[in-house]
Amino acid sequence: MDTSDADGCQSLPEDVVDDIGLDIWEASRVLCNFMLQNIAVRHLITAAPGILELGAGAGLPSILSAAMGAKAVTLTDYDPQVVELEQENLRLNGVDEGKACVLDWRDRDAAEKLGKFDLVLGADLLYASSVVKDFIETVKVVLAPEGVMLFAHQIRRAITWDKARGLPRLEKVDAPLELLKAQAEDAKLVSKELLSLEPDQQAKDMGTEGCFLILAFAWQEEALKCLYSPTYSV
Ligand SMILES: C[S@@+](CC[C@H](N)C(=O)[O-])C[C@H]1O[C@@H](n2cnc3c(N)ncnc32)[C@H](O)[C@@H]1O
Repeated sequence: MDTSDADGCQSLPEDVVDDIGLDIWEASRVLCNFMLQNIAVRHLITAAPGILELGAGAGLPSILSAAMGAKAVTLTDYDPQVVELEQENLRLNGVDEGKACVLDWRDRDAAEKLGKFDLVLGADLLYASSVVKDFIETVKVVLAPEGVMLFAHQIRRAITWDKARGLPRLEKVDAPLELLKAQAEDAKLVSKELLSLEPDQQAKDMGTEGCFLILAFAWQEEALKCLYSPTYSV
C-alpha cells in the first residue's frame, strides 16, 4: 500500500524501529559548526531549492540550515519516534519551510518519491557496515546531478573477539567508513575531505573518542571545487 503524500513523504508506520536518533550526536554539532563557518556551504544552503537530511535524528543541521536561509528542509529517519521528534523540533524552532517524514534507506521506492536534492546532509549515520550499501543506494537516488552531500562522521574502530588469542582486539580501521569510500567510488561519486578534527578537551572529558571527518560527495568534480577546508578548527 502506498502511504506517501503528494510530496512523497511516507506516513508514520506503527512499529518502532529504535531510538538512537533521539539523542543529538557529536558529529551533527561538528557539521553545524562547519556549516556556520564556511561561506561556500552557506551559499549551497541558500541556493538549494530543497535540502534533505538523512537519518536526521533531532535534525540539528536541518534546523540550522533553515535559520541560515534554506528555502525548504526535509528531515528524514526510519524511526517513527524520531520523526515525531523532528516534527516537534521544527515546530518549536518555527521552521515553517520544513517537514519531517519516514525514510528507511532499505526502501528505494520511498527515496524515489522524495525526488532529487541539491544538498543532502548526514551526520553520524554509518556506525555499522551492514547499513552502508543501502545508504549509498539511497544517496544515488536522492542526490541531484549537480548536488552535493555533506557527510559528518565520527571515526570509531570496532572491538572484535580474536579467537586465536582468546582476547579482544581493536580493529585497525573504521570499517563502515572504508566501505563507504569504496562503495561511493563504485557508484562513481566523487568525494573530498573537508575537515578532519580531533575532539576538543571538553568533548574528551565527556568521553568522546576518535576524530571527526566531514566529507563531501557529488556526481561532478565541479560541484566540489567551491568547497574548501576551514583554516581554523571548530
Ligand atoms: C547516531 S544517530 C545520528 C542522528 C543525527 N544525525 C545526529 O547526528 O544527531 C543515527 C541515525 O540514523 C538513523 N538510521 C539508522 N538506520 C537507518 C535506516 N536504515 N534508514 C534511515 N535512518 C536510519 C537512526 O534512526 C538515527 O537517527
